Amino acid sequence: MDLTTEYLGMQLKNPLVPSASPLSRSIDDARRVEDAGASAIIMYSLFEEAVTAEEETMVRFLHHQDTGFAEADSFLPNHYDFSNGQERYLENLQALKQALEIPVVASLNGTTPGGWITHAEEMEQAGADALELNIYQVAADIEISGSEIEQRYIELLTQLKQQVSIPINMKLSPAFSSMANMVKLLETAGASGVSLFNRFYQPDINIDNLRLTTNLQTSISAEALLAMRWIAILHGRTKLSIPRCYRRCTQPG
Ligand SMILES: Cc1cc2nc3c(=O)[nH]c(=O)nc-3n(C[C@H](O)[C@H](O)[C@H](O)COP(=O)(O)O)c2cc1C
Repeated sequence: MDLTTEYLGMQLKNPLVPSASPLSRSIDDARRVEDAGASAIIMYSLFEEAVTAEEETMVRFLHHQDTGFAEADSFLPNHYDFSNGQERYLENLQALKQALEIPVVASLNGTTPGGWITHAEEMEQAGADALELNIYQVAADIEISGSEIEQRYIELLTQLKQQVSIPINMKLSPAFSSMANMVKLLETAGASGVSLFNRFYQPDINIDNLRLTTNLQTSISAEALLAMRWIAILHGRTKLSIPRCYRRCTQPG
């Protein structure tokens, strides 16, 4: 059977693309995914918080050097000797590109327009075939309207488009009041695809000790129906690639 398809402008041997997960953290796991037939792989995300937190730590560290005793400064390690989260991510991306034949899609995860997004350019230079932007935001602020949230998506995409020329895939949550219109806005702003859908962690409460439980419950196949429905609704109305965001899943992990 001919399963070839086009995804984010790339020709793929089939439409099976594992979505972002720890499987791309190890080269061995990624090879197993490729050997099992995946036609591309989406990397785990580089998180805005991780980039920002490391930068803040570095600023504090440098400030500490600046304000310390001059002769003692030489005892402190040079901050350039440390590889930060971004560097580790790029090294992993390069290693995946060397080890695999299938395309590798890098992933950024964040919510606010800002400097962290400039790291996309380095991802492109490190060989990413495309970029996925996961705006993992639970819009809990009672003062922020839906249209402001939508505008933020467009702003982030526009900012990202200025950084890279590789295709950009927007990973969406199902929580938009007008999903079809949102997809149209993203297409107009230059997205090449949308992933339907991200799945937010849902913490539970243990009623015996009244503590939050953070056990990860993997999805069940019935949850695929929401994405299937939207893929069907959008089919023929947009030129974007629309993969169902599908990570696995019959077993945890
Ligand atoms: C352990 C685990 C790690 C994940 N890591 C990421 C990640 O780094 N970036 C991202 O965009 N999505 C991540 N996801 C979300 C998945 O890519 C996927 O969108 C989500 O699990 C919905 O698909 P599913 O219903 O098949 O689980 C992760 C999911 C799990 C379970």
